[in-house]
Amino acid sequence: MIKLKDVSKTYDGKKMIVDHLNLTIEQGELIVLVGESGCGKTTTMKMINRLIEPTSGKIEIDGKDIMTIDPIDLRRNIGYVIQKVGLFPHLTVGQNIGLVPRLVKKDLDDIKKRTIELLDMIDLKHEDYIDRYPSELSGGQQQRIGVARALANDPDIILMDEPFSALDPITREQLQNELLKLQEELNKTIVFVTHDIDEAIKLGDKIAVMQNGKIAQFDIPEAILKTPASDFIENFVGQGRLWKTPDMLRAEDIMNKEYVQIGMQRTKAHAVELMREKNCEVLVVVDKSGNRLREMMGMVGKRQLSKNFDHEVRIKDIMKTDVMTVQPKTPLTEVLRLRDEHNLRFIPVVENGSVLGIISAASILTVLTEIIPESEDF
Ligand SMILES: Nc1ncnc2c1ncn2[C@@H]1O[C@H](COP(=O)(O)OP(=O)(O)OP(=O)(O)O)[C@@H](O)[C@H]1O
Ligand SMILES: [Mg+2]
Repeated sequence: MIKLKDVSKTYDGKKMIVDHLNLTIEQGELIVLVGESGCGKTTTMKMINRLIEPTSGKIEIDGKDIMTIDPIDLRRNIGYVIQKVGLFPHLTVGQNIGLVPRLVKKDLDDIKKRTIELLDMIDLKHEDYIDRYPSELSGGQQQRIGVARALANDPDIILMDEPFSALDPITREQLQNELLKLQEELNKTIVFVTHDIDEAIKLGDKIAVMQNGKIAQFDIPEAILKTPASDFIENFVGQGRLWKTPDMLRAEDIMNKEYVQIGMQRTKAHAVELMREKNCEVLVVVDKSGNRLREMMGMVGKRQLSKNFDHEVRIKDIMKTDVMTVQPKTPLTEVLRLRDEHNLRFIPVVENGSVLGIISAASILTVLTEIIPESEDF
């Protein structure tokens, strides 16, 4: 676990580059520091391996103040990957990867074995690549070697400062996917810096949005998208973003909470009047009216009402009881699938038997128009 406690950095005593920053990163978490250029991401990251020392505050790794650890020892246990990989041009791929393990005098056979294992892990055939020089590799391959080198000494922590930002979009996406796969196997604690919110959303277990040396919000990607803590974050994240990641939209985000309910002992005449008064097309039937937490017994819509000519017929005798429902957390994609497959016009969102809201064509449309920026053609 990495803990930054009230950490500040200033060079001239005036401008706070990092401003009383608090951040806790759990073991095995991949967290992303994201923010505009100059907001203090690199500075924050470099304080974790003491390439920069804080002006005030404290950083702990597994409860230990890093100022009490020899910086060289500290860095041996913290992998570091930067944008310009910084491979040594006069060393081969194998020598580059084995650099730190050699420095700490690991057994040469073990280093070789580990190097081969790492090359396989990053999908470069070791027999083809181990003796090449960095200049004989593409940018993406160099960056992969950079990642392998950071992993070579099997550190608990890896710091990555815009490691993929100089790559073309396709290579970049490949490396992002590889990193996610690696992380699933290795379960390292990773601090990843980027100024690209898409990359942050894709990679981060959690995202720390930085602004002027402070953390403006620290949360899971879904929460950053759905409940940005400030206008700054909302703008930074960008409108319409949620729609680009529709997996994150769930039934509870698109339901209309303002539904109307009716007691099952009431009559058709009541229902017709209620629907006219509230200007709605469907009513949720409960065993007694007026209590929102009451269990849903069924639904009535225009179809049920028009089939019965007796105005005094009771709702319980005409309501639809085999109503298909979804949970609040059901993804939008699944809701849309059910809606198409079963030709549903209204889908109640139900939790513990009670209705939280209703999804209809209108509620879906409302959400879509809210989240799709006007400028976007649709
Ligand atoms: N040695 C230094 N002396 C004075 N100011 C510095 C020094 N190093 C960095 N800064 C300033 O600190 C601020 C934060 O820099 P930092 O490199 O942490 O930003 P960043 O968020 O990583 O930005 P980018 O996205 O451009 O990499 C910048 O305004 C920078 O000019
Ligand atoms: Mg930076």
